[in-house]
Amino acid sequence: MARFRSLLVVVAAVLVLLLQSAPTATAEDSLYHVCEGSNYTANSSFHSNLRTLLASLSASNSAFSTGTVGSSNQAFGLVLCRGDVASNNCKTCIKAASKNITQLCVQSRQAIVWYDHCQLRYSDVRFFSSNNGSLGIMVNNNNSTDPDTFASAVKELMGKVADRAAHNSSSLLFATGMMKYRSDLPTIYGLAQCTRDLSADVCSQCLQGILDIYGNSTYARIGGRLLGYSCNFRYEAYTFFAGDPTISLERTISPSPSPSPSPSPLLSPPPPPPLIASNKSHPPTAETEGQSGKGNKKDIGKVLTIAAAIGLALVITL
Ligand SMILES: *[C@@H]1O[C@H](CO)[C@@H](O)[C@H](O)[C@H]1NC(C)=O
Ligand SMILES: *[C@@H]1O[C@H](CO)[C@@H](O)[C@H](O)[C@H]1NC(C)=O
Ligand SMILES: *[C@@H]1O[C@H](CO)[C@@H](O)[C@H](O)[C@H]1NC(C)=O
Ligand SMILES: *[C@@H]1O[C@H](CO)[C@@H](O)[C@H](O)[C@H]1NC(C)=O
Ligand SMILES: *[C@@H]1O[C@H](CO)[C@@H](O)[C@H](O)[C@H]1NC(C)=O
Ligand SMILES: *[C@@H]1O[C@H](CO)[C@@H](O)[C@H](O)[C@H]1NC(C)=O
Ligand SMILES: *[C@@H]1O[C@H](CO)[C@@H](O)[C@H](O)[C@H]1NC(C)=O
Ligand SMILES: *[C@@H]1O[C@H](CO)[C@@H](O)[C@H](O)[C@H]1NC(C)=O
Ligand SMILES: *[C@@H]1O[C@H](CO)[C@@H](O)[C@H](O)[C@H]1NC(C)=O
Repeated sequence: MARFRSLLVVVAAVLVLLLQSAPTATAEDSLYHVCEGSNYTANSSFHSNLRTLLASLSASNSAFSTGTVGSSNQAFGLVLCRGDVASNNCKTCIKAASKNITQLCVQSRQAIVWYDHCQLRYSDVRFFSSNNGSLGIMVNNNNSTDPDTFASAVKELMGKVADRAAHNSSSLLFATGMMKYRSDLPTIYGLAQCTRDLSADVCSQCLQGILDIYGNSTYARIGGRLLGYSCNFRYEAYTFFAGDPTISLERTISPSPSPSPSPSPLLSPPPPPPLIASNKSHPPTAETEGQSGKGNKKDIGKVLTIAAAIGLALVITL
């Protein structure tokens, strides 16, 4: 309880960073990264341990792996692919992350980088099994035409997806979901995941924490992602994950009498919502569940292009 409260109170150190602007964004470009800790010395034993660590993570054939290298000046690392990503895409992503992280964070003793398909984190401090509350948020600039209804639908869906990810996913700590909630509004698709070193309870605590931090007014945005160190979620008004959703929800809420085209003022937001503004690409392409292939990749490319061009990132440290 105490830890939970401090999560909400200590919304400190808000860094505003431009996302890397790449002229030709591809699915391999990172979404965001954070460099932390002091600098190590070139060719020190930590540097050599880190090099070994990254090489071994890079060679991983698994969607999740951790590594510890050295007896002193140890380097600890973790890689995780999104739960629905095919193994070849997973490997490509992990390789890019291992290679790029030392360029994105030159000589940092601690760093994390997120890609669409994977994330990589290393540190000079052992971090496995614990929930690190730090995170970044990316949101679509556009609000739903019916913000209150949309926000409550997203919250319901994401709460259930998070719960399923933590407690009922055969320890993969990953789940997806979809929700049809009103005929005149788009179906919502959501995904939640924890790093697999966490217990179900710690995963649940992590996801619950980030879902609360996201905030009521932010839930009215028509898409968003929260990139946490230990867990993450994403929702969109179009399909973005492969395979059938773990959860399918259907609600029949009747359309509100006068849906306002411009967003009406929402419930007052909690502490200033930390946002990565990024109005996302384009209307949902009609893709059917389970067809992961090319359509989704195109989609991702466009999302990243726009995020790279105009995105703002804020990271809050908890
Ligand atoms: C990372 O590496 C990949 C391929 O190795 C490259 O395409 C990409 O531009 C690099 N940069 C970032 C920021 O991810
Ligand atoms: C660490 O080294 C990088 C590259 O040399 C430098 O840009 C950065 O300011 C250094 N950071 C600290 C905290 O000394
Ligand atoms: C670190 O080692 C590399 C290759 O072994 C060498 O090229 C480089 O000059 C060394 N850097 C320092 C700061 O000693
Ligand atoms: C989260 O991770 C960062 C970077 O490794 C570290 O500086 C920070 O102390 C961690 N916070 C917690 C609560 O573990
Ligand atoms: C969306 O709603 C938020 C909060 O009410 C508001 O600050 C923002 O300007 C709106 N965005 C657009 C694109 O209307
Ligand atoms: C978890 O999964 C099992 C098997 O699929 C199912 O019987 C059970 O009802 C699920 N529990 C929850 C809380 O979803
Ligand atoms: C957020 O919305 C819920 C209902 O969906 C409400 O119970 C809660 O008080 C709201 N929180 C804030 C901070 O406005
Ligand atoms: C993104 O939002 C800004 C400001 O709300 C707007 O000027 C711009 O046209 C939008 N871009 C797209 C692609 O929607
Ligand atoms: C956001 O709203 C603007 C203005 O209505 C529209 O041009 C743009 O396509 C929308 N972007 C998305 C991603 O829906």
